[in-house]
Amino acid sequence: MSLVKRHIAQRFDQAANSYDQYAVIQYQIAKALFELCDPWYETVVDLGAGSGFMANLMQVNYPNIILLDISYQLLSLTNEFHQQKIQGDFEKLPIIDKATNAIVSNMALQWSDNVIKSLSECHRVLKDEGHLYLSMPIEGTFCELHQACEHVGANVKQFLGLGDITALLEQNGFEIVLSQQDYWQACFQNLRHLLKSIKATGVSYTPSTVNKTLRGKYFLRDIEYFYQALRTVQGLLPLTYQIGFIKAVKR
Ligand SMILES: C[S@@+](CC[C@H](N)C(=O)[O-])C[C@H]1O[C@@H](n2cnc3c(N)ncnc32)[C@H](O)[C@@H]1O
Repeated sequence: MSLVKRHIAQRFDQAANSYDQYAVIQYQIAKALFELCDPWYETVVDLGAGSGFMANLMQVNYPNIILLDISYQLLSLTNEFHQQKIQGDFEKLPIIDKATNAIVSNMALQWSDNVIKSLSECHRVLKDEGHLYLSMPIEGTFCELHQACEHVGANVKQFLGLGDITALLEQNGFEIVLSQQDYWQACFQNLRHLLKSIKATGVSYTPSTVNKTLRGKYFLRDIEYFYQALRTVQGLLPLTYQIGFIKAVKR
């Protein structure tokens, strides 16, 4: 496993115990993705299953769910009801060709270093005409934080646009059946709570491109100063999630 992957796995291992408590929006998004799924598949693989939000929603109707995640700690927190759990990397799936009727992935593939590789792995392990359901944060997610970082001189990596993701799927042998976007907004008393919530769901928001001298106390103080102007009428700090939902068929 590469160093970057090891680092990601460690982050999620560390966040495992607090994940469910803070991942309120991720759970709402899982429910929205679940609503899009066909009512029955013989076999479903949940990629980046985390603590099992999707798998728990699906367990009633779907007899065979395989949970795959890079974080051992998150997988170990999943419901004992789930028998098939694999610690693995979605860029190199330890699953044979044409093994599954459907793949679901809620809020996970944005973690891929190489989205093309992950999508081609999805294509490989799906049966012919198999279905792929994705939800991912897209361009516009964390726009307030991005604006604040840019204001203090930090360039932050943007999420892919919905069109970019559908184009990559088409280039990798998928036909798009549905692509839509929706947004959620979380609100916080202060920047500390906002950053804590991001960190507790596995994300450390320390833009790698930020000049080291800008980081630390002053960096956060300057971001907080800028962020104050964005307070809602209730006096809270907003954090926007723009989410892309996609259903695609293997062709
Ligand atoms: C934001 S969490 C979403 C978890 C879950 N799907 C949910 O709805 O709560 C992202 C998940 O992707 C997993 N992940 C990140 N990189 C991965 C990789 N290369 N292979 C497999 N899982 C990965 C993390 O361990 C984490 O569980």
